[in-house]
Amino acid sequence: MRGKDKEIEEIKIKYKKRIKEHWNTDALAYQKRQKLSTDYIHYGPSCPTEEDLNLLGEVQGKEIIELGCGGGQCSIALTKKGAKCTGIDLSEEQIKFAKNLAKKNDVTVNFLQGDIENLSMFDDENMDIAFSACVFDWVQNLDEVFKEAFRILKKTGILVFSMGHPFYNCLGDSPNPNDLKLKLSYFQRDILEKDGNTGLTINYKLPTIGDIINSLIKTGFYIEKIVEPEPVEEKFMEGTSADYYPIEVLNMVPATIIVKARKN
Ligand SMILES: C[S@@+](CC[C@H](N)C(=O)[O-])C[C@H]1O[C@@H](n2cnc3c(N)ncnc32)[C@H](O)[C@@H]1O
Repeated sequence: MRGKDKEIEEIKIKYKKRIKEHWNTDALAYQKRQKLSTDYIHYGPSCPTEEDLNLLGEVQGKEIIELGCGGGQCSIALTKKGAKCTGIDLSEEQIKFAKNLAKKNDVTVNFLQGDIENLSMFDDENMDIAFSACVFDWVQNLDEVFKEAFRILKKTGILVFSMGHPFYNCLGDSPNPNDLKLKLSYFQRDILEKDGNTGLTINYKLPTIGDIINSLIKTGFYIEKIVEPEPVEEKFMEGTSADYYPIEVLNMVPATIIVKARKN
């Protein structure tokens, strides 16, 4: 590797380590704050749930991988509906929490620590569904995640994911509904930000909508549906910062984008 490439690679490794450190430090506090349910599959704050949107279809008997499963709530909810679930997350602490939560719910889920940018522990064409909620804003290379998901999906497989809506990200933290302003350029794809909970500086890679769609197309996915949900007030996730997601702002700008893509 040449000097400049090596430097870029080292920076990437440093940022990935920091994201892991952040989630290992914050996992328990995050789970205490969020109090996520294991009875339904969530997509984001004030978003309709899978039970409303039915993007995954019948999951009974399906092999599902949850990319960035966090505390495992969605994997557990999917298992309760009869799916065979594997949940993978970068943070050992999130995985520890997920394993305990599965025990408490009396279900068996294959929870593994790992990086969703490298799914080499999974064979090609092995999964029916790849699912992810609120994770892709944290990954450093979304192209790699899509490539890996595509590789491990069966020919008839689908990828369904939610992530922060690129336009909402432009409003910055805690948007004021009475004084809405763009705080960041839509085109600023790299953001270094100090996290309020752990104090660690995180490098966010924030794609535009075009980046997300074009990356899926380049990988070979066929895009079946895009949901930019209007808020459902009673679906506000307990423990989520109301400052970050004020309902008056959600009524004007979606905070989440949900995509369903298929391999074939
Ligand atoms: C906001 S949490 C969402 C967790 C879960 N999907 C949920 O809805 O509660 C983001 C998660 O992404 C995980 N994560 C970030 N980058 C990752 C990567 N490269 N590979 C696997 N997990 C990652 C973090 O460890 C964290 O648990």
